[in-house]
Amino acid sequence: MQRDQISVSAAAWDQMRDGRPVRLYTLANRAGLQVCATDYGCTIVSLTAPDRDGQPTDVVLGYDRLADYMANSAYMGCVVGRYANRIAAGRFTLDGRTYTLATNSASGGLPCHLHGGRVGFDKRLWESEPVTEAGAAGVRFHRRSPDGEEGYPGNLDVTVEYWLTDRNELRVEYDATCDAPTVVNLTQHMYFNLGGHDRGTILDHELMIAAERLTPVNAGLIPTGEYVPVAGTPFDFRTPTVVGLRIDAEHAQLQYGGGYDLNFVLDQRDIQRQPAATLCDPTSGRRLELFATTPGLQFYSGNFLDSSHIGKGGHPYQRRAGLCLETQHYPDSPNHAHFPSTVLRPGQQYRHTAVYRFSTR
Ligand code: GLA
Repeated sequence: MQRDQISVSAAAWDQMRDGRPVRLYTLANRAGLQVCATDYGCTIVSLTAPDRDGQPTDVVLGYDRLADYMANSAYMGCVVGRYANRIAAGRFTLDGRTYTLATNSASGGLPCHLHGGRVGFDKRLWESEPVTEAGAAGVRFHRRSPDGEEGYPGNLDVTVEYWLTDRNELRVEYDATCDAPTVVNLTQHMYFNLGGHDRGTILDHELMIAAERLTPVNAGLIPTGEYVPVAGTPFDFRTPTVVGLRIDAEHAQLQYGGGYDLNFVLDQRDIQRQPAATLCDPTSGRRLELFATTPGLQFYSGNFLDSSHIGKGGHPYQRRAGLCLETQHYPDSPNHAHFPSTVLRPGQQYRHTAVYRFSTR
């Protein structure tokens, strides 16, 4: 399908263990931006962007084979849900009823529910179809998460769309509706290395996050419920700052996650025009501006990666080989009444848009 010089094509890629076919979609524009995504976990397997000299490189970490994504414990490139990030002890109460979710992680020895549980949205095959609109082409994924899946109440109809635009953007749109009260928090878990997925670490990248405050965590990476200012701390990214500059500073909030792994409270701003975050690789000149409608952004500096993660082309992804900028609601919101609500009720619509705009400097 061709429209306004942006194309979307679909090809057979692999198959699930039960034989269901798994597809790979390729979105491309004439400016050299290309996104490949599969219907397994809505996973973005590659994102190719030109550097300041026009040289294209794949700037997201990932694997070559579906089997590696199935075994993927690092959430490379996928959509995470029904609730992205952590829920303390895998428990929350909604309308007086307590729900128990799978506890599939234990940071700091404290069990929690992480990224949707044992078989989250990232480990499911989604329905998919190519889509086009003026100035953009994309792919639409849909799945119905059944009542009780991973312990969550209510059927949830989820649509995720990836659009490549003629403004060199990848636009991600999330939509969900339910038939019983539930909680929803969806995000995209791409690991970026704007120098190239196989170019070492992200410590030299310059990062800006439009946040004056963050939600500090306990040793289990669960928010304490407080808001603290970033001013005067290693978390002050209000102006572009080199990621590696303060990453190993003596600060409890860095030690719990072995580096950056925190939710930033995004400032009030014009969300169409003012990015939630910007990321720049000074060597290649690649620049990413991220626009988001969510109240929070998790900055995770890939601290849990180690060279046992063999990625695309056989490349081992060392610690901090990539970083994630996860547009999200605050972690553990179902257990913090004063956090922006993540409750979705029948008749309401969950909506979230994130725009990744690429350029060079
Ligand atoms: C998120 C979390 C991290 C880690 C990664 C996956 O970014 O905040 O603590 O769980 O996902 O490895």
